[in-house]
Amino acid sequence: MCGIVGYVGPRTPSDRPLEVTLQGLARLEYRGYDSAGVAVVSPDGLTTRKRAGKLANLQQSLEEAALPTATAALGHTRWATHGGPTDVNAHPHVSEDGMLAVIHNGIIENFSALKRELVDAGVRFTSETDTEVVAHLLARAQADSGDLTAAMLAVTARLEGAFTLLAVHAGQHGTVVGARRNSPLVVGLGDGENFLGSDVAAFISGTTHAMEIGQDQVVTITADDVRVVDADGAPVEGRRYTVDWDAEAAVKGGFDTFMEKEIHDQPKAVADTLLGRHDDDGNLVLDELRVDESVLRTVDKIIVVACGTAAYAGHVAKYAIEHWCRIPVEVELAHEFRYRDPVVDVRTLVVAISQSGETMDTIMAIRHAREQGAKVLAIVNTHGSTIARESDAVLYTHAGPEVAVASTKAFLSQITACYLLGLYLSQLRGYKYVDEVADYLEELGKLPDKIQQLLDAEDEVKSVATAMKDTASVLFLGRHVGYPVALEGALKLKELAYIHAEGFAAGELKHGPIALIEPGQAVFVIVPTPRRPMLHNKVVSNIQEVRARGARTLVIAEEGDETVDEFAEVVFRVPKTPTLMMPLVTVVPLQIFAAALAAAKGLDVDQPRNLAKSVTVE
Ligand code: F6R
Repeated sequence: MCGIVGYVGPRTPSDRPLEVTLQGLARLEYRGYDSAGVAVVSPDGLTTRKRAGKLANLQQSLEEAALPTATAALGHTRWATHGGPTDVNAHPHVSEDGMLAVIHNGIIENFSALKRELVDAGVRFTSETDTEVVAHLLARAQADSGDLTAAMLAVTARLEGAFTLLAVHAGQHGTVVGARRNSPLVVGLGDGENFLGSDVAAFISGTTHAMEIGQDQVVTITADDVRVVDADGAPVEGRRYTVDWDAEAAVKGGFDTFMEKEIHDQPKAVADTLLGRHDDDGNLVLDELRVDESVLRTVDKIIVVACGTAAYAGHVAKYAIEHWCRIPVEVELAHEFRYRDPVVDVRTLVVAISQSGETMDTIMAIRHAREQGAKVLAIVNTHGSTIARESDAVLYTHAGPEVAVASTKAFLSQITACYLLGLYLSQLRGYKYVDEVADYLEELGKLPDKIQQLLDAEDEVKSVATAMKDTASVLFLGRHVGYPVALEGALKLKELAYIHAEGFAAGELKHGPIALIEPGQAVFVIVPTPRRPMLHNKVVSNIQEVRARGARTLVIAEEGDETVDEFAEVVFRVPKTPTLMMPLVTVVPLQIFAAALAAAKGLDVDQPRNLAKSVTVE
């Protein structure tokens, strides 16, 4: 939540700092779009500009009245926590003397006490934010020491909560100082210029050389230098790495929205997740797992922790891993996990699934799990993210940057990575399906083409969605692995089209939800393959039950499954796929449906209201 950019660079061309900062903000806007602001510093002083609403409002204001030439700049795009989305509450926040500006992502939990202290000392606050206390504290500390890095160290020692902070001071106009605790911050290492960002998307078009900033560290960048110190001021070396994301992957590439582009990226995302993870004999090779094989052999329980769409990927993992490995798998929403005293010990493997790697609920869950002695394996898309760094092992999904707020390609690649994990554990532990690992891998290898087939037929789904743009409520039913797909279909529709939507386990229908069915109620049903007749027949009966009560049934069924035809108003066909892998195909029409319906309603598909891409506060 909240996107943060800092830049120091050459003085020519004179608009470079602002241009780099705005480019970074455009790439980070998915992290929050309640307001946007910039600060520029030069030998002539500090100037800020900030506007409520999307980045476009700020950009328009900058076109109307340009900012002065700068040597360093800060930029912020906000997801509001303390104080509404107004111009005044937008970041940067400036000290009373107008010399210092600060931007912030996170929550300062002790801000009330700090504010009281400052008000008692005569400071006048102009905003309702928790961030403004930092601006005033930093200005005072800077006045004491004359150095922004020392001031940042002194102030962060007093703060409680989660924060990434960046600050500039007119007296040190070629410097940006940053700090982080429980919130992300990375450095982009350029040639004669350096960058800071909440994630690498902030500077990906400027450099692919990055450096991690650790917990409670303070970083100072100038055009030619990057220095990192720990909380005691002692120098530390940040870990350097090369970003393997293609800058072009973060642009729309001819599609109207990032979401459409990312839906179309899915064949590649799944292929890239599989790439290089098995040898020629079909044996899985997950060298990167780094957890001792003896530990993985003795694990007696797996708990998946994740939120939202990532948690639904975990639901799919449960069916696959339990079947292939006979290890019990629990799936827990990360924000519930640590509050219920979960049974976790050294024989528990906690699997954290996260696209961003920065979801605070999931970070807190893995910290709790590790404190209890569990090993944590992360399935993460973002290199160098907090979850990746704090876990014992990481399986990267390699889906590339996901910019649209609603997750699509990350979901498919998370499910793919979960299959890899399940098959790997089966191979390692020698359970009865061990001989079939190579066959399953071969089937997985066919999935990118099958997903492409669905994308080639997207117009049919889009026209149904467009015709349903005035629908008020849609239900989704699924059984077995179709159940998490139903939950995901409903989530996509709620968040993109603001329509009441609910997913149910199809078997639960008669235990209550069927009371919702009245003539005209739209119901999606995800039908399993007829090659599993028991499962299939039950779901076909469920279609008849809702149909008999007047529902409009939209059915997702396998090619050649004609049993559904007479009970379905619309049938969307998916290619034949092994049962456990069906989510990788059945969810695709639901993603296309939700995006097309939202577009038909004239809504912002990439940036739905009230949401942000990474939920970095609890
Ligand atoms: C829904 C969506 C969210 C995320 C959830 C977890 O479309 O994107 O539900 O899946 O906030 O985010 P990550 O995967 O970054 O931990």
